[in-house]
Amino acid sequence: MKKILAVLICALLVVASMGALAEGQRVGVSMPTKDLQRWNQDGDNMKSELEAAGYVVDLQYASNDVQTQLSQVENMISEGAEVLVIAAIEGSSLGEALAMAKDEGIPVIAYDRLLMDSDGVSYYATFDNYMVGTVQGTFIKDTMDLDNAEGPFNLEITAGDPGDNNARYFYQGAMDVLNPYIEAGKLVVKSGQTAFEDVATPTWATEVAQTRAENILSSFYADGSNVDVWLCSNDSTAMGVANALAANYNGNYPIVTGQDCDRENVKNMIAGKQSMSVFKDTRTLAAQVVKMVGQILNGETVDVNDTETYNNNVITVPSFLCEPVFADVNNYKELLIDSGYYTEDELK
Ligand code: BGC
Repeated sequence: MKKILAVLICALLVVASMGALAEGQRVGVSMPTKDLQRWNQDGDNMKSELEAAGYVVDLQYASNDVQTQLSQVENMISEGAEVLVIAAIEGSSLGEALAMAKDEGIPVIAYDRLLMDSDGVSYYATFDNYMVGTVQGTFIKDTMDLDNAEGPFNLEITAGDPGDNNARYFYQGAMDVLNPYIEAGKLVVKSGQTAFEDVATPTWATEVAQTRAENILSSFYADGSNVDVWLCSNDSTAMGVANALAANYNGNYPIVTGQDCDRENVKNMIAGKQSMSVFKDTRTLAAQVVKMVGQILNGETVDVNDTETYNNNVITVPSFLCEPVFADVNNYKELLIDSGYYTEDELK
């Protein structure tokens, strides 16, 4: 009996190791930076899920430096990656690496941010970026009751990185909701800065958003007038605006929007310094991408749900869009703690 058991266990181990060998294909995962919480989570989630599925994962972070990312991706290719997953620092700066991948027949999945100006990108997985902006704009519209309240209200706008294709979608989604009220004079932008180029934040840096917000506050609100709402495209920029408000402003605290549910921003929501965020569960996106990688490597049809929206100036990239979710102080426990995204302690 013992012998039979031992033989059975041995056989099982051999089969298991053969399976692992068969699946042990290399997947290169290139992330923009470790500076922002979300990319660490995206990278970690993807690595552990891909490894659990039996792949060998080459995960690299590029310190928000375009050249570093380019050479990291080139190294992944020369080290035998069979699929690449790339969240670009600057959507249009990886052309050489993408051409190399295409030449070698390596499929590339653009992760969260579209890879621009190249036909070397096979799929795109992201959250519905325009919807993120819509959620922010609609929150402002509803909270201020813009259809009924008399106003006028003062609005300022802080958007994202011009090098990130997502940034314009976030901005446009929100502005399409708010523009009618700006045109009607119900929302007034005292700084006069409304065009994307004027409100953008290179590299999404908190410090850059903070400096611009401080300038706006001292130039346009030092007379004691209130800024009623500050549309911020994401949490890192919302943090900059919250810091500027803390340093430089004595009026009524404005509505401040965000995106990502970064830990420090959720703390700010709880403390009343940020009004909402948009939850993009990185576990969902990572799981979707792991599924796509498997489908690609097994020669199966790859799941997509949008084949029209994301043109990168060369091709329209088949995309899978996950749904972003509104988050505020009333639902964060259910969304973030009950789902195991954060522990209660992490938000203290
Ligand atoms: C992502 C956002 C993030 C921003 C800054 C965007 O591409 O979609 O979730 O806040 O980059 O890292």
